[in-house]
Amino acid sequence: MKDSFDRNIDYVRIAVTDRCNLRCFYCMPAEGIPYEPKSHLLCYEEITRLLKVLGGLGFKKVRFTGGEPFLRKDFIKLLENTAALPTYESIHITSNGTLLQKHIPRLMELGITKINLSIDSLDPERFHKITRRNDFKKVFDTFHSLVEQGFKVKLNAVIMYGVNTQDIVPLAELAKTNAVDVRFIEEMPFNGGYKENIQMYSARDIFADLKKHYPTLEKLPSKHGETATLYQVKGHKGNIGVIPAFSRTFCNTCNRLRITSKGDIKSCLYDDGIFNIRDFMRSGITDEELADKFREIVRLKPKDGFEAEKSRKKSEKSLESMSSIGG
Ligand code: 5AD
Ligand code: SF4
Repeated sequence: MKDSFDRNIDYVRIAVTDRCNLRCFYCMPAEGIPYEPKSHLLCYEEITRLLKVLGGLGFKKVRFTGGEPFLRKDFIKLLENTAALPTYESIHITSNGTLLQKHIPRLMELGITKINLSIDSLDPERFHKITRRNDFKKVFDTFHSLVEQGFKVKLNAVIMYGVNTQDIVPLAELAKTNAVDVRFIEEMPFNGGYKENIQMYSARDIFADLKKHYPTLEKLPSKHGETATLYQVKGHKGNIGVIPAFSRTFCNTCNRLRITSKGDIKSCLYDDGIFNIRDFMRSGITDEELADKFREIVRLKPKDGFEAEKSRKKSEKSLESMSSIGG
């Protein structure tokens, strides 16, 4: 489906829960965020219905996020339902990796092999400080298991000034011997009100650090809807990516819609939810009416994250948490 800027919108990201068992400080305060009661969440039947209708409109890619998606009961059941839909070329998951290990065999059987893991530091103490939980070993073991089993793993690290810039090169080194994309993300102001002023370590700063360490770093051609600028170091098995999530220089090729766990549609990460699809579905509409609503939403998709930000009703972005937005 084309939007009014001729972008092909064919990728939907669905947050299946706003709950998380970690407390990354760029995402939420130490005490967590007020969670939605279960009845406010889209149920699996509703999510599957949405996916069917979006599939009919040409959507080809879906990513399940959270919070931590594996915290939601029977998440595997939702994956099975999705894998049974004929229209999706790929099903992706973004996870913190703490609860994933035991599901690896079933994910393999379902052919769901594209997993993004969040690892912001290779130093267990710093990992603990950032996530406020002591789970580094579990997550890193899971990373290795996934790679060994042939999953297509992307590793995401949010880079914060004065916190983990020293992790950039060690994390990038993981791509030397592993066929993984290691991606560095600019910090965004969605942290559940934990902090307002962020001192940016920008995509440029990150790139400069990488270039200094890897003089042969070469930019790769960009793929449809890719938010990361990808780089290759000669001889390395995997790639390195930098995601200008705050600078927002990738909006002209945006291909996505987001649906939060309670059914708010975000046609841009920086809008504050433009329509609640849960209530709309619960009012008894037909699939055709649902499809029409999505056509309208895509047609009205803002040009970029700056436009979306200007149209927000609520001014405080930092009161939103990535845990309910879905990354
Ligand atoms: N800024 C940038 N990225 C964030 N994420 C969560 N909160 C933020 C933030 N404030 C990322 C996580 C994970 C994905 C779900 O979103 O690192 O990779
Ligand atoms: Fe959980 Fe991800 Fe937020 Fe960390 S960033 S608290 S892992 S949802």
